[in-house]
Amino acid sequence: MTTAQISLRNVSKVFETDTMETHALRDISLDIMPGDYVAITGPSGCGKSTLLSILGLLDSISAGEYQLDGQNMAAISLDQTALIRNHKLGFIFQSFNLIDEISVLDNVMLPLRYAAKPVSNEQMYQQAKSCLAKVGLSHRESHKPAQLSGGQQQRVAIARALVADPKVLLVDEPTGNLDSQSGNQVMELLSELNLQGTTICLVTHDSRYADMAKRKLQMLDGTLLHAPSGENA
Ligand SMILES: Nc1ncnc2c1ncn2[C@@H]1O[C@H](COP(=O)(O)OP(=O)(O)OP(=O)(O)O)[C@@H](O)[C@H]1O
Ligand SMILES: [Mg+2]
Repeated sequence: MTTAQISLRNVSKVFETDTMETHALRDISLDIMPGDYVAITGPSGCGKSTLLSILGLLDSISAGEYQLDGQNMAAISLDQTALIRNHKLGFIFQSFNLIDEISVLDNVMLPLRYAAKPVSNEQMYQQAKSCLAKVGLSHRESHKPAQLSGGQQQRVAIARALVADPKVLLVDEPTGNLDSQSGNQVMELLSELNLQGTTICLVTHDSRYADMAKRKLQMLDGTLLHAPSGENA
């Protein structure tokens, strides 16, 4: 039996302020296998982005356990957390978060500048070029992000997410700022990446796009409705 790449057990997340507590995630258990493609849907505020932040080690859990590749994420240092985030995980958000002052190619190279193992300039350049080719934007490498269409900018963001060769892509409403044609292109690209072996966890409001995943999970008020676990789904 394949072991889960991502395994959550009874995970809860509570946001606390002076005056109130928000239970964003309640008792979530979920297994995601290598090569899986999971779509998460649910109403606004039900906890989808919080779940992705937890999976992406951008936020900590309040209770429960998170194992990534069999390693308990509560037991590692902040430095290790940053390393794992940079090495194993790629992020794609609704807003492209590109840096406007530098070229498309430099944007894509950026994560490699923070890699644990030093990467030579030549290697960074080659890896970034290869990722831009994957998203069909080799001919735009010297442009600045603002000189590209929204769909092209999102594809640059995808190339940037891929440049450090992540095993898991965490994707939050990638088509939210795109027209339907660009949205379709981005979704087709995600499907191709999944076919090549990348695990994908996608949050989307669009049921057509959720249908492109191998598994669909629904959230409601911080809970996961009938969360099947990995291979037994
Ligand atoms: N940093 C935070 N501090 C306090 N509460 C938060 C914080 N982040 C999220 N929340 C709350 O947690 C709940 C879940 O938010 P989350 O952003 O995960 O929802 P979502 O399902 O992604 O919604 P949407 O579809 O609108 O993006 C909401 O009630 C939200 O107000
Ligand atoms: Mg959200």
